[in-house]
Amino acid sequence: MPKITYVECSGREHRVEVPLGRSVMRGAVDNSIPGIDADCECACATCHVYVDESWLGTTGTPVPGSQEASMLSFAALAQPNSRLSCQITVSEALDGLIVRMPEGQTPRWRDDRSVGIGPIAYVTELRPAMLVPGDRGPHGPLQTGVENRR
Ligand code: FES
Repeated sequence: MPKITYVECSGREHRVEVPLGRSVMRGAVDNSIPGIDADCECACATCHVYVDESWLGTTGTPVPGSQEASMLSFAALAQPNSRLSCQITVSEALDGLIVRMPEGQTPRWRDDRSVGIGPIAYVTELRPAMLVPGDRGPHGPLQTGVENRR
């Protein structure tokens, strides 16, 4: 079974086996790897990863004009090696793949940053259900729903 290494923005690595035919996203979710929330199948961008440069030739890049390319154009912290991990299907050729999770997708990042800066603004505006009840920002409790839109 192919082994994939998921690297948190802190540098912590998770090397797991992922069955053939599964997505790289599903491999992370099935192994409870932090940093990939994966709320859908190509409409949320919460499975955003940076593919290690040495693997881009194997994974490929998003097809121009595809839904993946469109989603990544709105993703915070997107880079040329960005992919949505739900769109990468695991094959034998991906044995040894290394992907890194963007800083904005880690729980620690969410705890430390202000509402309205960076990806959390996107999350707050479009996906209020992702906020954890009781989360606090620097100016008090985080709010969900329309009352948080300004
Ligand atoms: S899981 Fe939502 S875009 Fe990949």
